[in-house]
Amino acid sequence: MQSLENTYSDEEVRAFVLRVQKLLPGEPLAWTIEPKVDGVAVSVRYEAGVFAQGATRGDGTTGDDITANVRTIRSLPLRLDCAPGHPPPAVIEFRGEIYLPLAGFQQQNAERLAAGEEPFVNPRNAAAGSLKQLDSRLVARRPLSIVLYGIGEMQGFPGTPPADQKGWLEWMRAAGLPTPQECWLVDSAEAVIEAIAKLDLLRRGFGYETDGAVVKLNDFAQRLRMGSTAKAPRWAMAHRCLVGWKRLDANWWGMAMPASARSWVNRKPTPKPNDAWEKWREACSTISPTTRTASAMQPDSTAAKPS
Ligand code: IVH
Repeated sequence: MQSLENTYSDEEVRAFVLRVQKLLPGEPLAWTIEPKVDGVAVSVRYEAGVFAQGATRGDGTTGDDITANVRTIRSLPLRLDCAPGHPPPAVIEFRGEIYLPLAGFQQQNAERLAAGEEPFVNPRNAAAGSLKQLDSRLVARRPLSIVLYGIGEMQGFPGTPPADQKGWLEWMRAAGLPTPQECWLVDSAEAVIEAIAKLDLLRRGFGYETDGAVVKLNDFAQRLRMGSTAKAPRWAMAHRCLVGWKRLDANWWGMAMPASARSWVNRKPTPKPNDAWEKWREACSTISPTTRTASAMQPDSTAAKPS
């Protein structure tokens, strides 16, 4: 499965933009900046405008068929909303992420703890666990959600398809599909850095986990010319921030624990001093959902960095 190159600093963002510009000399470049949603990568397929298949991306070639479970996701329309006189494409596949909102994660873990089961470590694991369920009636009880940010296979698009990311996101939104909550379109490295900073503030208030920003070349023709390495497209990158350090407590999920869950915690090996600390990346799973407030998302100034 293809992934994205990771960057952690403004310098690396500038270097990325410069690298693309060198490969597309003299061409005007535009960039979109979207939240990087921390979920399960999926593709969803519509045939003649009707939802036909959902699959995990797996290794990029073969994934698991999760059609019945994806069908239960309420934010995903079962039929594309195409304007009168505009028939849907014969086949169109969208790429995106299925995630469990934080409220659903807390609820699911509270239920698991009450039943004496091991809680999920983070919302992504909880979403992946839900999607593996064989009984889609149980999955329907989970408040899973989905965001779509890309295009896959396409056949029989009526007229001319959009030529860039911004245009596709607009097309998808008009068809009733859930697209990224925020998206900036900018034309310079400095503006990319500014948009990442704006997103970084906003995403703390999202009701789901994000682990950074995704920066993409807007124009699809330019993307095609940039191509990919064996691992990742050359036209996109993920920006992930290292914002501070956070202490890991045994009861990090911050809920009142029944005795059974406490004994599960106690079975865990006692951490060595340095293991009690972990790099705290934004949206990392170590933050108690109940303390996930704007102030809790600030770097923990009272916490000493491990030596
Ligand atoms: S574009 C080659 N856009 O992050 C894949 N990915 O760490 C291009 N992700 O594999 C993906 N939010 O599963 C893209 N707005 C977004 C995303 C996003 C989350 C995931 C995706 C990707 C992973 C890379």
